[in-house]
Amino acid sequence: AQRIAVLSSGGDAPGMNAAIRAVVRKGLYHGFEMIGVERGYDGVIGGKFMPMNAKSVSGIIQYGGTILKTARSEAFRTSEGFIEAINQLKRFDIDSLVVIGGDGSMAGAMKLAEAGIKTMVIPATIDNDMVGTDYTIGFDTAVNTVLDAVNKIRDTTASHERVAIVEVMGRHAGHIALMSGLACGAEIILLPERPLDIEKVCERLQNTYRRGKLYSIIMLAEGVAHGFDIAKIIDEKTSFEPHVTVLGYIQRGGMPLATDNIMASRMGGAAIDSIIKGEVNRLTSIQAGKLITVPYEEAVKYKNTIDIADYELAGVLAT
Ligand code: F6P
Repeated sequence: AQRIAVLSSGGDAPGMNAAIRAVVRKGLYHGFEMIGVERGYDGVIGGKFMPMNAKSVSGIIQYGGTILKTARSEAFRTSEGFIEAINQLKRFDIDSLVVIGGDGSMAGAMKLAEAGIKTMVIPATIDNDMVGTDYTIGFDTAVNTVLDAVNKIRDTTASHERVAIVEVMGRHAGHIALMSGLACGAEIILLPERPLDIEKVCERLQNTYRRGKLYSIIMLAEGVAHGFDIAKIIDEKTSFEPHVTVLGYIQRGGMPLATDNIMASRMGGAAIDSIIKGEVNRLTSIQAGKLITVPYEEAVKYKNTIDIADYELAGVLAT
């Protein structure tokens, strides 16, 4: 039987386990030998290959994180590391590799594809910031986790009539901040995609206060600035003393929501189907609501940027 390996790479995201399970079980169903790789590309270099059977992925679908562990591999970026990775895949007779991860992980899969290894990428990152797809596994769970946290933070903020800054993840993208901000009705949303005008932020806080709303939630994307730095400036310029919560890894963990496990299951299945059809070196992707597979060279041309209309709407709704 042909051997297909699967790994997770980059930041973990809820739903990765469901994707691993889908790839392994669908692959076994079609008669492939399935191999799990530990710790992303580091594991490829180190030859950390484990045979997987149907039981290897039992009882994992409800958990966040990834049973295969993950890494942001520095070694894989070096030419020695890269060559060793290819040698290991050949040594272990691995025919195809399914990579579950974000942009960096896809860049790795593209390099391997250029060197003749058949790869497939399943998009998974809480940031939803990948090229080639409108959706990445983990995003919806992360946004709901933020929503849950903000609803708690709001109780205290409202009771004490304070300003709260909630700093969320997303790297250089504002997807998490925008969708969470829209969902929780944040008074102010600060995104890396928009210029930061701190005077306007202060003015808006004051207007909100004057209108009789005595507390405000500021949803801040980490790509803009640190919450504590923004708080300091607001503190200096106004009478408010913003309270900062950095949600951090809270957003990455926890039980995946149905949306993410369903998406992960479908994409895992699609990755194996694509390998069977010989349509490899592709990203499983959602475009215009449809699950498709996109060749890497097309995927990199498709940018998934935030919808400014959503940002404007959130601003209107929070007045
Ligand atoms: O890509 C997911 C993410 O959580 C980003 O939102 C964040 O900027 C980054 O990973 C943090 O990386 P690390 O895993 O090194 O903490």
